[in-house]
Amino acid sequence: MAKITFITSEGETIETNGSSGSIMELAVKNSVKGIDGDCGGVCSCATCHVHVDSADFERTGGPGEIEADMLELDDNATEYSRLSCQLEISEALDGLVLKVAN
Ligand code: FES
Repeated sequence: MAKITFITSEGETIETNGSSGSIMELAVKNSVKGIDGDCGGVCSCATCHVHVDSADFERTGGPGEIEADMLELDDNATEYSRLSCQLEISEALDGLVLKVAN
């Protein structure tokens, strides 16, 4: 089980708990505004874009090659951007705080 906190672009804080699947799926299940997951998690839409806190980026790691290509097309991308469909929930990510980029 991992606690994942989302902060929407409107400043709303949503605390969630998940044990399996992707962080995008967790966000959609909890109706986190700004995370739509339009492509179903196959890394081709960027509607699951989040900014990882810089202190946590070591835990998530950086994007893979295809993910990085998708992020390059997004004006809101930063060095701490990830597509949340590419982040698997695990104990190692417990306490993660993510800002919704959309
Ligand atoms: S859900 Fe489409 S890129 Fe993540």
